[in-house]
Amino acid sequence: MIAIGSDHGGFHLKQEIMKHLDELGLAYHDYGAYSTESCDYPAYGEAVAHAVASGACERGILVCGTGIGIGIAANKVHGIRCATCSDCYCAEMSRRHNDANILALGERVTGVGLAMKIVDAFLNAEFEGGRHARRVALIGQIEEK
Ligand code: RB5
Repeated sequence: MIAIGSDHGGFHLKQEIMKHLDELGLAYHDYGAYSTESCDYPAYGEAVAHAVASGACERGILVCGTGIGIGIAANKVHGIRCATCSDCYCAEMSRRHNDANILALGERVTGVGLAMKIVDAFLNAEFEGGRHARRVALIGQIEEK
């Protein structure tokens, strides 16, 4: 299950992503927002982050205007590694090296076609472990301080 969320600034791109996930046959849950009415992105970043951190969803996808604010909010939740990406390379490497569990995108930054490629890169890449696992564990230690 994929947790998905946006604010008003990411609403339209989120709709496109959900269509894409439908085409791929991947299950998701939409944590809002449910319209383009102005709203505050931290609530949606937090909701998706909790869904992933609790194990209810394996991965998350967030969208706001830039992908930055909603990503910062998600990263405040214990155990969340949210990567804001505007290219496929970073999306792939965020999985392979950083074990990112949430992808954040910016509707005002990235066109729909590229955004779908970024989503695919994120969903198809696997964490490599090894020395990267040690580094990710060190990030976890920061959370414990
Ligand atoms: C909303 O105008 C905008 O600030 C928000 O979507 C996001 O880009 C914040 O980082």
